[in-house]
Amino acid sequence: MKLMFTPHLFHLLLLCATQTLGVRIQSASEVSIEGVIQTELERTVSLLCLSDSSSETEPDEELVWLRNGVMVSLMEENKKSPSRVCVTPVIQEDDGATFTCHLSSNASNSASVTLNVTYHPPLMGLEELVVEEESVLVLQCDILANPQVSSVVWTVNGSTVDLLASGFMLTNDGVTSQLIANSVVKSLHKGNYSCLTYSPLYGEQRKLFSVTVTDKVIKFPLMPIIAGVVVVCLTAILAVASRWSKITKCCK
Ligand SMILES: *[C@@H]1O[C@H](CO)[C@@H](O)[C@H](O)[C@H]1NC(C)=O
Ligand SMILES: *[C@@H]1O[C@H](CO)[C@@H](O)[C@H](O)[C@H]1NC(C)=O
Ligand SMILES: *[C@@H]1O[C@H](CO)[C@@H](O)[C@H](O)[C@H]1NC(C)=O
Repeated sequence: MKLMFTPHLFHLLLLCATQTLGVRIQSASEVSIEGVIQTELERTVSLLCLSDSSSETEPDEELVWLRNGVMVSLMEENKKSPSRVCVTPVIQEDDGATFTCHLSSNASNSASVTLNVTYHPPLMGLEELVVEEESVLVLQCDILANPQVSSVVWTVNGSTVDLLASGFMLTNDGVTSQLIANSVVKSLHKGNYSCLTYSPLYGEQRKLFSVTVTDKVIKFPLMPIIAGVVVVCLTAILAVASRWSKITKCCK
């Protein structure tokens, strides 16, 4: 009953609103009562701004479109009602973007809609990592999503990572989740990892990692050798120099 009634009420409100405000936005996508359009990545959102010619405003008046308060450049023939803007393809940055249309002569005659772009974390595929023993290992997953993911689970060889036993540190700032080991140990860290997220709207997303640990390579100690060579050379030069003064002396 309530569901049947609400659209009618909204329609009446809209009619009232157009008479006082002079412009309104129409879209092929459904616009909620709060002025929100639900959409997804890669989709197209087409918006139409109509100035209400029956109001006191000039029917030929030019219209202006703003995206988050910044003017959208329009083709000359698109400046009069009905003026169309098209968001295609919809990207992550369009989430929360507000599109406003108003008469160029009077900004208080305006109408707005806001996009709610839903998406899951961009997790997929397999990343192969080769790390040396005792080095730092960082496994990273992008977890940004709308709506937010409800969980992030890290597994190794199919079981949940035991942070304490494996010496891993887990960080999550809402944008990325990282599993960090500051000093890799082959027996603890070699294996097949995955990060698994759960989105209330899109379900599970997962990224796999294969971690191979190699033996620590003894680095050739270049600096001490250079220092040694320099010292030897200097000593030789000094020795020759002092010998030279003796040689020249006895030649006199
Ligand atoms: C702009 O529109 C508002 C609302 O319709 C109206 O009250 C106001 O007088 C208009 N201002 C101008 C400069 O026309
Ligand atoms: C956007 O849509 C999602 C999924 O329907 C919903 O959970 C969320 O509350 C909406 N956000 C806004 C700002 O409307
Ligand atoms: C995971 O499995 C591989 C292959 O069986 C094994 O070598 C490795 O040690 C395991 N890793 C962990 C952390 O259990």
